[in-house]
Amino acid sequence: MSEGHDLELLIKSHHPIILIESHEEPRMLQLISRIGIKQYKPVYRWSITDGLKRQDIDLGSGDDKADEEEVLWKIRDGQNEGIYVLCDYHPYLTKPLLIRLLKDIALAHEQSKITLVMLSHRITLPPELSRLAASAKFSMPTRAELENIVKETAREWRQRHKQSVKTDQESFNLLIQNLSGVTTEDARRLARTAIFNDGSISASDIPMVMKAKHNLLRGDEVLSFEFDTARFSDVGGLSRLKGWLEQRKPVFHGEADAASLDPPKGIMLLGVQGGGKSLAAKAVAGLFSVPLLRLDFANIYNKYHGESERNLRESLSTAEAMAPCVLWIDEIEKGISTGSSDGGTSQRILGTLLTWMAEKKQPVFLVATANDIERLPAELVRKGRFDEIFFVDLPDKAVRQEIFAIHLARREQDVTRFNTAVLAEMSEGFSGAEIEQAVVSALYATHAQGSTLENHHIEEELLGTRPLSVVMYEKVDYLRQWASERTVPAG
Ligand SMILES: Nc1ncnc2c1ncn2[C@@H]1O[C@H](COP(=O)(O)OP(=O)(O)O)[C@@H](O)[C@H]1O
Ligand SMILES: [Mg+2]
Repeated sequence: MSEGHDLELLIKSHHPIILIESHEEPRMLQLISRIGIKQYKPVYRWSITDGLKRQDIDLGSGDDKADEEEVLWKIRDGQNEGIYVLCDYHPYLTKPLLIRLLKDIALAHEQSKITLVMLSHRITLPPELSRLAASAKFSMPTRAELENIVKETAREWRQRHKQSVKTDQESFNLLIQNLSGVTTEDARRLARTAIFNDGSISASDIPMVMKAKHNLLRGDEVLSFEFDTARFSDVGGLSRLKGWLEQRKPVFHGEADAASLDPPKGIMLLGVQGGGKSLAAKAVAGLFSVPLLRLDFANIYNKYHGESERNLRESLSTAEAMAPCVLWIDEIEKGISTGSSDGGTSQRILGTLLTWMAEKKQPVFLVATANDIERLPAELVRKGRFDEIFFVDLPDKAVRQEIFAIHLARREQDVTRFNTAVLAEMSEGFSGAEIEQAVVSALYATHAQGSTLENHHIEEELLGTRPLSVVMYEKVDYLRQWASERTVPAG
C-alpha cells in the first residue's frame, strides 16, 4: 500500500507542520510510527488526556502529563529531533500564546529537525501558521478493496452464525457502489451495519447504509440526507419539466449509448411561492431513483472567517462521494444574495458553487429552487450554468383540477364524489399550496361538525381565501415578465 507515501514525502521535504484530517486516528498513528522508524526519527504523541509520550516504542510511562501549553514549551525548549503528533489540538488553535509557540517551533525547524503533525478530524490553522504547514491527503479504498472489505465482513458473520450471508449480485453491487468515498475503517463499519442486522445484503439495507454513511461524512447541518423523496404522480402539472427529466434519465445513469449527449448537470426551478418547486425537486430524486441530499445554504455561513467556502466545498465533495444523487438547494437566493454587506463572503460562496458546477465529474444532478428573482445574482442565471431554468407558474384550470384530485385522494376521499371542475373554476390564481390548504381546512371544518366532506365545504374555503397572487399581484406579474424572457415554462 502506498498510503503513507505522501506523508513520508511531506516529512522528508521538511515541512515544519503537517496537517492530517482523518477520523482514523489509530491507523494514522501506526502509519506515522512506521515512517518514523524508516527515517530514524523518534515519534511522539500528545493528547490532552495522555500528555506527551513516545509513540513508536514503549519506554514505560513516566509522568509526562502536559497540557496544551506545557507540551509546546517542552517541544520548543527540548530541541529533540523527532515527529510530534498532536492529536486533537484543533480546539486550542485560537490562543495567541499557543499560536506563537507553534510558530517558534516551526521556524526553528531547520536546526531542530522537529516536525509537528496535527491529527484531527478537522483542522483550521490560523493564518500565522498556514504558510508553514502542508496537508497530507489519503486516498479512499478502491472498488476492489471495498469488495474485499464486504467479503471479509460476510465471512466474519458466517463464522459466527455458521451460515452464509444471503445476497444477490445486484444488491451486492449496490452496496459496493454506496460504500465508495469513505475511508477503509468507515467502509468496514458500514458493511457491518448492512450485514450484521439480518445476515443478508439486500436492497432494503441500502437506505440505512446511505444514511449512516452520510452521518459519517458530515456531522453538521449543512448537508442533510432526505429520506422523503416524492413521485411526479404527486405533482400536478409541470408536464414539460417531467418530460425533460424523463428524456435525460438514461443519460444521467450512463445507460444510453449516447456519447454525444452531455450528461445533465442541473436545473433551476423559479416561481411563485407554493407552486410546488420544493415538491418537484424531491420528485426528481424519485424519478431518477437516487438519493436526495439537501444543501442548506443558510447554514453554510459559519462564525469562523473563511470557513463558509470550506463548508460548501466539503458538502459538495460529500455529494460527489454519494453520486449518483440529486443535490437540492432550496431557495438558493437566501444563501447568495446580491448584497455586498458581508465582506464578499457570499460572492466567494457563489464563485465556489459556479466553479464546482462547471467542473464536476460525478453524476450529481443539481436542483435549485428560487422564489425571489431580485435577490438572484445574474451570474447564476446566465445561460449555460444550469441546463435549463424552468418557470413554475400558477397552475391553469386543468392543472388545478389535477391538484384537487391529488390532495383529495391523498386524504382518502373518493374523488368521483367531487366536482373538481367547479373547484378548479373557482380557484383561479391559487397556488398548489393554497389549493391543498383549502382541502385541508375544509376537512377540518367538516370533521369538527361530524359531517362528511362535500364540494360546497371546499368552495366555501376558496371563497374565504385571498390568494397570494391577488394580494401580491404586482410582484407576481413582475416575476412572470422577468421569467418570460429568461426561462422556459415547467408546465
Ligand atoms: N403542483 C402541485 N401539485 C401538487 N401539490 C402541490 C403543487 N404545488 C404545491 N403543492 C402542495 O403544496 C405544498 C407546498 O408546495 P412547495 O413545493 O413547498 O412550493 P414551493 O417550493 O414552490 O414554494 C406541497 O408540498 C404540495 O403538497
Ligand atoms: Mg419551497
